[in-house]
Amino acid sequence: MEIVHVSAECYPFAKAGGLGDVVGALPKYLQQAGNVAKVVCPMYRTKYLFQKNWEVVHKGNTNMGNWWFDYTVIKESSNDSGFDLYLIDINGLLDREKIYGYDDDVERFTAFQIAVLDWLVNWQHQPDVLHAHDHHTGLIPFMLRYCYRFKKISSVKTVFTIHNAEYQGAMSWQKSIYLPEWNTWYWGLLDWNNAINPLASAVKCADWVTTVSPNYMRELQQHANGLERLFQQESKKCIGILNGIDVKVWDPENDQYLDQHYSVKTVSKGKNYHKKQLCKRFQLDESKPLFIFIGRLVGEKGAEIIPSAIRDSFRYIGRKMNFLILGSGSPETENALVQLKSIAENDYNVFVGYNEALSHAMYAGADFLMMPSRVEPCGLNQMYALRYGTMPLVRRTGGLQDTVIDVGDEGGFGIRFENVSTGDLTHAVYRACALYQDTKKMAEYQKQMMKIDHSWESSIQQYMSIYQ
Ligand code: ADP
Ligand code: GLC
Repeated sequence: MEIVHVSAECYPFAKAGGLGDVVGALPKYLQQAGNVAKVVCPMYRTKYLFQKNWEVVHKGNTNMGNWWFDYTVIKESSNDSGFDLYLIDINGLLDREKIYGYDDDVERFTAFQIAVLDWLVNWQHQPDVLHAHDHHTGLIPFMLRYCYRFKKISSVKTVFTIHNAEYQGAMSWQKSIYLPEWNTWYWGLLDWNNAINPLASAVKCADWVTTVSPNYMRELQQHANGLERLFQQESKKCIGILNGIDVKVWDPENDQYLDQHYSVKTVSKGKNYHKKQLCKRFQLDESKPLFIFIGRLVGEKGAEIIPSAIRDSFRYIGRKMNFLILGSGSPETENALVQLKSIAENDYNVFVGYNEALSHAMYAGADFLMMPSRVEPCGLNQMYALRYGTMPLVRRTGGLQDTVIDVGDEGGFGIRFENVSTGDLTHAVYRACALYQDTKKMAEYQKQMMKIDHSWESSIQQYMSIYQ
């Protein structure tokens, strides 16, 4: 079976968060399971682009409204990703360094989607399934079926995966002129609340809709940033499939970012080594437990409560622990975290920015990972933490609820809390500090966590059955 994934991100070529990780891994494991899996991404000017060799496979010319543009499709020659990686270049729109965050993102991703379909129409053969990810590719199921120009491929089946329903890409109806001539009888399939809503449109038009954990699928029927009713109505073709992790990239025994490796057997020694390195680099006290946070500093991640939870931990629990934060996002939270350095006594530090290598070192060297997320469709951080023997402290939501069992429950190995509040997070830190005192028990938890299997194996089977 041949599946073509269309996405705004794909690790290691372009990653802003978990979407990149998933689209960089799922096709690889689909391919290993006997399918042909391909990925198409916009050709941003990332480092990876300049490190690899590419060949031009197609040149085309198409239009978005009145604007005619040339586009070029290139393919990675060495196939290093484990699947065919195609990039689409559109001069003036996609030839930029960053993935998102430009004023013309609507135009950039709409033109990208039009170019993808235009190219597929010109291809020699048709894939069995087009698998689109998140709202940046959400117009594909509609355009494929109802734009006359794509009629030749309109019978290709579509799967749409929602990695995050908070972002829907809604745009005014004035932008409908961007879409190649379409059957206006079906305008309702684009609309939600008097706007074109790519995420809602994909939910209406795709043959199957998936989210990245079973619990998040249930939650969407109650809270979906205005789309609850749609998820209730379309529930028959919606399914939650838990993400896996790329166990080759995220592997303490072989991690390319680590200068020393460890296994379940050597976990205590391995983690101590990395903790020592981290503590030295960030002026922390290696004799105390190390709590980390890695992620986007935004409301969804509950990031704004971290500074107050750190203050309260120091105040009420005592200076018994270290905190190290890696992330970027809201300027207020970034500032609050930087300000907090003024009260540090070799027990707090922050790295504002994005740093893949540091994130690996932190999963390896930390004792605990904090995830006070408001919304977490799946969450990969907690699964990476588990694989590196780092105990996750998570709010009970979305995929965090599906993947972390509290130590107080049978078979538990993590700490769960109910609310996105300073009090709840501080209490979780308190519980973690108490656990940390029992070194023997902690060592057992570390081994238990590392043995949990979050590889793609079982999720691949579920994807394959919906493709079928
Ligand atoms: P989301 O996609 O919502 O940001 P996930 O938990 O699915 O959350 O995935 C986040 C991914 O991004 C993980 O691989 C995490 O390690 C990585 N990440 C997030 N912020 C940073 C950062 N500042 N530096 C390095 N890696 C980061
Ligand atoms: C999104 C979600 C995150 C999920 C990731 C990969 O960014 O916020 O929870 O793990 O996509 O599916």
